[in-house]
Amino acid sequence: MGDTTEARLTPPFPERLTRRLPPLELLRRFRQDMLSVWHERHFEERFFATRLLARRALVCNSPATVHAAFVARHAAFERKSPQLRHALEPLIGDGVFIADGLAWRARRPVVAGVTHRRRLAEFAPAMAAVVAERRAAWAARRPGAAVDMLAEMGGLAAEVICRVLFGAPEPGAPAEVAAAFSRYLARVAGEDLPSLLGLPDWVPRFQGLRVGEEVRRIHAVLDRLVAAAVRPGAGISLVGAMAAEGGLEGEALRNEAATLILAGHETTANLLAWAWFLLSQDAAAAAGLRAEARAALGGGVAGIEDLPRLPFTRAVLEESLRLYPPVAVLARQAVQDTELAGHRVRRGDLVLTLPFLLHRHRALWAAPDEFRPERFLPGAPPRPLHGFIPFSLGPRVCTGAHFAMAEAMLALATLAQDVAPRLVPGTVVTPRCRLSLRPGEVLPMLLERAT
Ligand code: HEM
Repeated sequence: MGDTTEARLTPPFPERLTRRLPPLELLRRFRQDMLSVWHERHFEERFFATRLLARRALVCNSPATVHAAFVARHAAFERKSPQLRHALEPLIGDGVFIADGLAWRARRPVVAGVTHRRRLAEFAPAMAAVVAERRAAWAARRPGAAVDMLAEMGGLAAEVICRVLFGAPEPGAPAEVAAAFSRYLARVAGEDLPSLLGLPDWVPRFQGLRVGEEVRRIHAVLDRLVAAAVRPGAGISLVGAMAAEGGLEGEALRNEAATLILAGHETTANLLAWAWFLLSQDAAAAAGLRAEARAALGGGVAGIEDLPRLPFTRAVLEESLRLYPPVAVLARQAVQDTELAGHRVRRGDLVLTLPFLLHRHRALWAAPDEFRPERFLPGAPPRPLHGFIPFSLGPRVCTGAHFAMAEAMLALATLAQDVAPRLVPGTVVTPRCRLSLRPGEVLPMLLERAT
């Protein structure tokens, strides 16, 4: 499964700067793609200060500084950036993803409790059912049929999260919800100029006016799905568990349902899309994964009991997360004057960590831009502590990491047994990071049959 002496794949990465850009050009780029504003030297520095218009940003870029901000000094940096809060607040209200202070402390145990790894056995049948349906849909296509793999994986992840959240949502509802979320996110991402200009939180944002109609539509659909999930006699669901065990109701319940769709849908879809893309560029890795999947599953659909027998599948997904972390920027705002890595931090300063920079840091990784899944195989040298953080770290670590990895492993291993997706010839894949890191707006692939 991969000889380290042979030429290895270096998949595309955003342009790296070699000179200083004027502030407005930097801002223009930042709003299009948050990853194409970084300089070559940023892949070597441990900690640096930068400026986004009126906002000073301190970037933690080493295991020690990341640990300091996200674990040791968590209380000072637990607040999400104003850009993120303003972008998401109309949609998820006081949902745990953007809450802080008392609100976050009250909600976190409820959401973490229902999405915990010990509950995987409850979710796995829904995951396997969705994967089996996608497999059947692909088998019904002619060999070599063209698909948009990003949309395929988006559809799969939307079905999984909605079935797990709501039990048995009405047919068509997951696709409707996912499409509405994507429209919303495309509209709000990168639009919060007032925060970058240093204006306070109470200054109205234009997006609030423009996205209001969309939000009302999404909330109406969610309210209907939540009501069905908590009705007496409804099957098991995360919404039901958050109501019964966490005591959530009304708007709080809808906000956490919206949070889980937001946090768990596009992220997992992007991970799977990137993994298919990388496999399409590396024949040896694709063959290795297929051989492992066929040996472990014997042509069947994977269940969670199969996960320990899929170490290479896990390694491919972890290497995809290293190269293309779906949440590529973690952005916080200091809630008090304090100190970090010997630097003074003023209340209101942005504190950033970019899994994207850290995962390609030259002091932490050998051949950081190459696709080498074997670095994550059991027995490989240990990964750098706090140097691989696709799910963040500390008290705000992703509550759905095990959920996401299980879902992605079940899907990739099951589907790779019979298809070998190939990139449509001539397609240029360009990473794009606004709220999440995606392989562009579409990922055109051909569903070739695997031999
Ligand atoms: C590959 C898929 C996923 C990735 C890469 C991912 C990554 C992340 C990251 C980096 C954060 C922290 C963000 C920050 O600190 O700014 C986060 C938070 C969160 N994630 Fe995930 N996530 C994924 C899937 C999921 C799934 C499937 C769920 C739920 C089923 C989920 C639930 C959450 C929640 C609730 C939070 C907020 C935690 C808090 O603030 O206390 N995520 N995720």
